[in-house]
Amino acid sequence: SDGRAEIISNAIRVIPDWPKAGIQFQDVTTIMLDPVAFKHCIDLLVERYREQKVDVIAGFEARGLIFGAPLALALGVAFVPLRKPGKLPGETVHADYITEYSTDRIEMHTNAVQAGQRVVLVDDLIATGGTLRAGMELISKVGGEVVEAACVIELPELKGREKLDGLPLFVLVEKEGI
Ligand code: PRP
Ligand code: MG
Repeated sequence: SDGRAEIISNAIRVIPDWPKAGIQFQDVTTIMLDPVAFKHCIDLLVERYREQKVDVIAGFEARGLIFGAPLALALGVAFVPLRKPGKLPGETVHADYITEYSTDRIEMHTNAVQAGQRVVLVDDLIATGGTLRAGMELISKVGGEVVEAACVIELPELKGREKLDGLPLFVLVEKEGI
């Protein structure tokens, strides 16, 4: 390792017992306070995808938007937001999923991804994998091809990776906990 992952890892603040007792919340806002750590995140993602054929970066509201948009800009490809219900003004497709804390739904503009386009899903964190799974379902509903998922943080103990049907998952740092 060239030390960048460690710098990113050290920039993540852990908030004990939030949003409920027993959860050690991985707070990425402290990455964004540190422009060096934030740039390392985007650079590592750009290095991963710049030699691959990628048409679309799709980022999950809320924190996947923050990492996904600069990645898409740097790669020179489209950015598509995957949003919470009722936020997008055009025609949407949706997928339901279960998070650590609740049941939820994500929506995407139907025409934002074209059939056959190669899509990378981006989020801040994979816990149970439900969010990324819902993203895979959304992209497949419109005929897109999800080629990989990328997260800043993985919580390996939750085995979310196993829910992705063998989809490659690229992560920058692993953290203990649930
Ligand atoms: C958190 C996190 C990931 C998701 C991971 O988002 O930002 O998107 O949970 O959990 P999973 O792998 O078990 O699905 P959350 O749904 O809390 O919403 P937010 O990003 O809008 O705050
Ligand atoms: Mg989220």
